[in-house]
Formats: sequence, structure tokens, C-alpha cells
Amino acid sequence: MRKIFLMAALLAGHLSVYATEGMWLPQLLTKLNEKEMKGMGMKISAADIYNLNKGSLKDAIVSFGGFCTGEIISSQGLLLTNHHCGYSAIQTHSSVEHNYLDNGFWAKNKAEELPNAGLTATFIVRIDDVTAEALRGVAGNLSESARQSAIDKNLNAIKANAKKETYQDALIKPFFDGNQYFLFITETYKDVRLVGAPPSSIGKFGADTDNWVWPRHTGDFSIFRIYAGKDNLPAEYSKDNVPLKPKHFLPISLDGIREDDFTMVFGFPGRTNEYLPSEAVKLTVEGQDPARVKMRDAALKVIDGFMRKDEKIKIQYAAKFASTANAWKKWIGEMQGVKQTNGIQRKLDFEKRFQQLAQGRPEYRGLLDSLNNLYKQQGPYAVSRDYYSELLRNTEMLGFANNLITALHDTRLKGADQWETIREQFLKKAKASYKDYNNDVDREVAAVLLDIYFEGVPSSRIGGEGYQVWMETNKDGKTTAGKLYSQSALVSYEKLEAFVNRPFQQVSADVWKDPATKLLIGLRNGYTDFVNKPYDELQPEINRLQRRYMQAQMDLVKDKRFYPDANSTLRLTYGKVNGYAPRDAVEYDFATTLDGVMEKYKPGDYEFDVPEKLRQLHASKDYGPYGANGKMPVCFIASNHTTGGNSGSPALDAYGNLIGLNFDRTWEGTMSDINYDAAICRNIMVDIRYVLFIVDKFAGAKHLVDEMKLVHPKKGAKPVLKKAS
Ligand code: ARG
Ligand code: ASP
Repeated sequence: MRKIFLMAALLAGHLSVYATEGMWLPQLLTKLNEKEMKGMGMKISAADIYNLNKGSLKDAIVSFGGFCTGEIISSQGLLLTNHHCGYSAIQTHSSVEHNYLDNGFWAKNKAEELPNAGLTATFIVRIDDVTAEALRGVAGNLSESARQSAIDKNLNAIKANAKKETYQDALIKPFFDGNQYFLFITETYKDVRLVGAPPSSIGKFGADTDNWVWPRHTGDFSIFRIYAGKDNLPAEYSKDNVPLKPKHFLPISLDGIREDDFTMVFGFPGRTNEYLPSEAVKLTVEGQDPARVKMRDAALKVIDGFMRKDEKIKIQYAAKFASTANAWKKWIGEMQGVKQTNGIQRKLDFEKRFQQLAQGRPEYRGLLDSLNNLYKQQGPYAVSRDYYSELLRNTEMLGFANNLITALHDTRLKGADQWETIREQFLKKAKASYKDYNNDVDREVAAVLLDIYFEGVPSSRIGGEGYQVWMETNKDGKTTAGKLYSQSALVSYEKLEAFVNRPFQQVSADVWKDPATKLLIGLRNGYTDFVNKPYDELQPEINRLQRRYMQAQMDLVKDKRFYPDANSTLRLTYGKVNGYAPRDAVEYDFATTLDGVMEKYKPGDYEFDVPEKLRQLHASKDYGPYGANGKMPVCFIASNHTTGGNSGSPALDAYGNLIGLNFDRTWEGTMSDINYDAAICRNIMVDIRYVLFIVDKFAGAKHLVDEMKLVHPKKGAKPVLKKAS
């Protein structure tokens, strides 16, 4: 392992030998990482990052809406995150007349900041190891379900007894596949307002073509502000709320980055699977990724065609398209990356070594083989499962039908007198979805996806009812879709509303007649019985063995440093500013500039257009204090180990100052979630100087920059522009 790493590092040319793999728990840095971090150049101590006695870096980091990360950059609760993280909020405030996606949005003062129902920002107050209490009384021979209920009981007790204020929450999550448990005390603010966003031609420059790709030239940022009650505590939205006074906010360094600089990324990575056995990795890249990619290939092609010729559809489908395309492209990169780095062979090599170490340890005998076997058994069901979820996710009418059937099921369980309440919730959700729904788009998506679905899933796993409908429509997606979208009540919100605004019994009977709900019921029943059931039956044993395998790895592989897989909890990762060499004769530099934006500029193109003002600023090199050597820095890369959810995370320098905003990874390294490789895995950040330049010079929102604290750590100088208005 060490040898492979060394060789790869040498190949990469730049990298000296240090471990950049890992997403570390902030409260354990002193014990596990501080020494190495200092060796790599860190100038602060672990206690400046996580501290319960005074404001520390962690107090400036929030989980943004539960799906991204944000950081506080002023004493008045100003919050920075990515443009793609604020995208839905920006879209919700947009219309053809006020198109903030296209033109950007800048509140000129606090009164103009826009509230966002449902958007939250969550701080981490404290993290405690509660493993011993969580596993109390949990003996080794319990069944998985008995074990889980024992643990759940323990967790409820821990939460109930946790020391916290009334406005705080307690949350417990399993780590290392359930070998450890940590308690998080959190504070969630619910009034988060939109302050500013650049036009998409900056914030999403390069769009899907450049997504997951280096070199990159995207100004992927947007600005929000957290509001609190007059007592500075979390409060529901009210116009009387006031800007949050944070415990800590990040100073911003204007000194820029150099090659080999130490960097940290602090945020909420969502999910990784670094400790899977070889069969599971194989299943991901040879079974599941190809199926998901195939479905999305087809759906995206259809939607793209409509978006390019219809302005309204472009706005309606923008956020959906971006999120569908994002995972689609990542999976393609993941398949390639695992292949190119021999990821499966590396797992097999590791497993060989593991087996040797496990000799003479009877408790681990057969463990790995059994686990690999189970993944092999589960594989076909996992793939069919993906086909099904992709079908429902991308064909919205089937998704709506599914929600309706679920609502009817719930009513059956809770009693028919609950129908009105359940129906109301269903309709509320449906109404929001139909706002961005277009029948013509969806019909064409359905036509192509149904063909792929019935080809990809064996008929024995589709079931008779679904197959019957398929045969009635000549086993042809287009014919099936033609029938659904001309005859179903689900073609519009109004028709759906009329359909469900009737007594429960009537609706329950008529869903067997409506062609969309009828097809869905057939597919759903088949899926439940022939895919999900056998899949689920294997899961408890997989969980048990995966947990044991995790424990065994930690127990036996002494020269490896283990970090827990990402699980949407606060983590710190660190690395160095470095380019990389992905292929023979190809070498990437570590930073891009505005010159590169102009090289990519394609007038009028929907991905590579450049606003006139930005072109002017480039022509006159009017970069203010943000440029360097006559250039305007735009993005840079480093060897920080990040994943989805880390978007919007601050990139910090050796002193804990903000130097950039994480938003992506490089193409060759998207497999880092299952197969991290320090030689080619890089995270992509927008340089903070570009953010400030856009805010100040491009948007004329200097008042926001004035709120921030700008510093020059490298010159050892004091802040140059400190102000709190
Ligand atoms: N790939 C990045 C991440 O996973 C950025 C996605 C947003 N950008 C886009 N063009 N869809 O979220
Ligand atoms: N772009 C991702 C995000 O939105 C980050 C990544 O996957 O690298 O969190």
C-alpha cells in the first residue's frame, strides 16, 4: 500500500509523502492529526479549530439546508456558500420577468434580502463520544433487528439526558459502520435570507460541460444572511428578526495561494464508502453505475432538447436538470477512475493482505468471503432497484402516481377518516412540483425510460401486473406514454386535484382505472415483491458482516490510519495546493485565472457566455486589490479529501483564514468516495479573491465586502479593511 502510494506520488511529480486521505472528526484532531498538520505547515493548533471554551473555527461553519456547507464571514451573520447550493432558492425567487438565475441578484440593503421558507443553517455546538452508552447491553448474539432496537432505546435515553438548552437539538449518528456512536448538539437557524448571487454565466460558468472537470473557471458562490430573534437565538422567520451575531466568523486572506501551501476544508461531507470489500466496489462500478447512467443519459437528452428551445422550460427544469446531470456525470467519472487506477485489483490486494493478517484469528475466519458472497447475491436486486428508482425519479408522472398510492396506503393504515388530512398534504406537495412540470417533456422522458426499464429489468422481477400493461401497449415506450399522457388525470395539477378531491373509497377504486396509476401500481407491486423484498432480506446480514469487517480492518491493519466514512457530520480534511498528472504526458497546473474564462468565452452560448461587464473588467485589468501580478485568480485545486455535501465548505489557510470556497472535484478523482487515490484526487475551490472581485467590482456591492474582515497573513500585516457597519 505504502509502496503504491509512494510510486503514485513520484509519478504525480509534485507530491511529497504525507497522508491527505481522510475526513476527520474535529474533536479528535489533537489526538490524531495535529502533529501531522503542523508538519505540513499549519500555524494554528487543533484547539483553535474545535474548542468548547471559546469561539473556534467550528463556530463559523454551518450545515446549509442539510445538503451543503456554509460559513460565516461577518459579525452580522453573512453566510457564504456555493451558487449551486443556493440555486433552488435563487430559482424560487426567479421568473421570466425577474430572472435572478440569468441576471444575478444583489440586495442593496438588509430590507431587500429575500426570505426562503424551509431553508436552515445548523451550527455544531458540541460533539461527544457516546459509544459505550449506545452499545450498553448489546450482546454479540442478538439478531440485527433486536440489536437495533436495543441501540435505539439507548440512543433515545442518551438524547433525553443530553445536556442542552431548549433551543438546541441532540442528534446521534453511527460511525465506522456502527462500531462507534457520536452525539451532536446542534443549533438550527430557520431564517436564512438571500443576499446576493452572481449571474449563472459566472456562478455556473461552464455548466455541465465543465462540471467535475479541471481546469475550471466557475465563480460558484452565493451569499445569504442568518437572522435570529432579538435574543440572538434561532427563531422562525419574522420581519422583526435581526442579523445573527456569530461566536466566530472567518477572516478573509487576500494573500492568495502558492504551490504546496497547507489548506484545510471544513464542512459536512455526505457519504463515502471507503471500507467496502471488492465485490461491493465491483457492483457499484460494473452494475449500478452503468444502469443509472443509461437511464439518465436518455432522460437528460430529452430534457436538454426542450430546455434549449423553450425559455420557460429552461427555468422550470434548470435545478432538476443540474442535479440529475451532476450525479450522472460523477458516476461516469467514477467508473473510469476505478478502472484507470485498478481500484478493484487494489481492493483484492488489500484483501489478500487482510486474509494473511486474519490467520490465527478464529473470530474473523470466513468473514470476508461471506461478505463478498452476500454482495454478489444482492447485486442483481441492487441493479433492478436502481432501474426502478431512476424510472420514478426521472418520469415525474410516475413519481406523482407513486406519491398518490403512498397517500392511499397511509390512509388505509391510519383510517379512512384521515383521508382529508393526508390528501391535503399530498396536494400541497404536488402543487409545488407541478409548478415546474411540463407534460410534453415528461411524456418523452417516459417513452424512452420505459423502453430501457423493461429491457434492463428481467421480467421475473417486474411482475405480472406491470408486464400486463406493457403488453397491452405493444411493449413500446412511446405507445405506453401516448396512452398515459392523453388519458391520465395526472397530466395537470387541476385534473389531479379533481381526481383526488373525492371520497377515499372512490379514489381507491379509480386508481385501478387511470392508466398512470394503474401502471405504477403494477410496477410498484412487482418491485416490492420481487426486488425490494429479496434485497432487504440480505441487508441485515450485510450490515452485520460489514460492521465486523470494519472492526477487523481496524484491529488487524495497524499501519493504516482509519477515519470514519462521511455521514453528513462535521469533518475537517487537509492537504496541499498541488496540481496533478492524471495520464501519460498530461500535467495540470494548480490555479486558473480570468484569462482562462476569456479563452472559453463563446458569445451567446448557454454554458460559456461571459457578461459584458466582466469582459470590460478583464480588458481594462481593473481588478482592484484582488488581482495578483496583473492577473485575476479564479479557481485552484488541492489534495483535500472531500465529497458531496462539502460544497460551500471554506478552504482555509494555515492560519484558519478563508482563502476559497470548495465546490467540486476533478474528473479523474470522482471515484474518491470508494477508492481514494492521493496521486490524482483533487478538490476544486473558487479563489476568495475572485468572489470579492465579483461582489465589489462586478456587482458594485462593496458594502458587503466592507462587512468582512480582510487580512494579509503572509505579509504579517494587520487587516487592511476592517469595518463593522
Ligand atoms: N459537481 C459539483 C457537486 O457535486 C457541482 C455541481 C453543480 N454544478 C452543476 N453544473 N450541476 O455538487
Ligand atoms: N459538488 C459537490 C457538492 O455539492 C462536492 C463534491 O462532490 O466534490 O457537495
